[in-house]
Amino acid sequence: MYPEIDTPALVIDLDVVRANVSEMAKVASANGVRLRPHVKTHKMPELARMQLEAGASGITCAKLGEAEVMAQAGIDDILLAFPIWGRPKLRRLAALRERARVRVSLDSPEVAADLGRLGGPPVEVLVEVDTGQHRLGRPPGRPSADLVAEIAAIPGVEVVGLLTLAGHAYHSRTPAELAEAARREGEDLVETAEMCARDGISLREISVGSTPTARHVAGVAGVTEIRPGTYIFNDTAMMRLGVATEESTAARILTTVIGRPMPERVVCDAGTKCLTSDGYGTPGWIRAVGLPYLRMEFLNEEHGVAHLEPGHHAELPVGSRMGLIPSHACSVVNLFDIAYGVEDGEVITELSVAARGAVR
Ligand SMILES: Cc1ncc(COP(=O)(O)O)c(C=O)c1O
Repeated sequence: MYPEIDTPALVIDLDVVRANVSEMAKVASANGVRLRPHVKTHKMPELARMQLEAGASGITCAKLGEAEVMAQAGIDDILLAFPIWGRPKLRRLAALRERARVRVSLDSPEVAADLGRLGGPPVEVLVEVDTGQHRLGRPPGRPSADLVAEIAAIPGVEVVGLLTLAGHAYHSRTPAELAEAARREGEDLVETAEMCARDGISLREISVGSTPTARHVAGVAGVTEIRPGTYIFNDTAMMRLGVATEESTAARILTTVIGRPMPERVVCDAGTKCLTSDGYGTPGWIRAVGLPYLRMEFLNEEHGVAHLEPGHHAELPVGSRMGLIPSHACSVVNLFDIAYGVEDGEVITELSVAARGAVR
């Protein structure tokens, strides 16, 4: 398996990436909503460009640093789905606004007032609503409508819409629970926007959607854009939720077996510094492609320790290679400087994970 690549390494199947990008673009166009993929998953301008060429209307970033890398690569329509606070960041935001249309999401009048002092055209903001994740945002309905009114009165900002992430949907136990979280994600925002309209504030953007919820929430009347990110690579968390299969996962950690101390024990050269601890303890949190009888037991920083079922103890001698599907693709990609792009089983390119580590 890819003898030219030293391990551990991040390998991306570009055929699968293209299929995933195209499928989500079709979901958006079939439902008449815009697609604004979250690029925190891949952090690579080349892949953002691929998403835009397939029909995305712009991109979503979490951090200014990611947005700067994407703007440097010529991407000019960016939603920063994160409150921007403090002088150093505001200076950078002002510079970014010279090169791209930038919208910012927030949930406090304090952040809005700071943005309002930037100067230039009003900063377009989306007010974040809590549809069940209990991270940022006030509850839908009156609490959020009142917040919108308060922020709309602040000079220098224009409230253009509402935004939410139904992050609690990642913990759904059944497809019905997932579909219900997605429906609420959309309907809560649409109803809140209707309340704002009755208060005299008309909003034009209803921005929702994660990878698990996007396919459901895109169909809720009134939704204008979806922001899935993980879908480009998928991972075992998405497989567990039933929105991906092994075939639709595109990111692998290529690893080498470096020890076989016991017949049933396989030790490889990828630990938490390649795979993170995300998902640890969940059955199937890390899977080895084509090896259903191998169960990852635990990771140390540099070692992955797996168990082989009886009947397979003669397999995977020292020096064998495996492709591991991570539990959480986004945080894994952020650990690598480069990714090897493969097509048809051949390495064809090296991609720079250009916005890796851009946490500010
Ligand atoms: C604000 C926001 N939008 C969109 C997404 C994309 O969700 P997913 O990674 O499930 O595709 C995230 C994920 O963290 C997010 O925080």
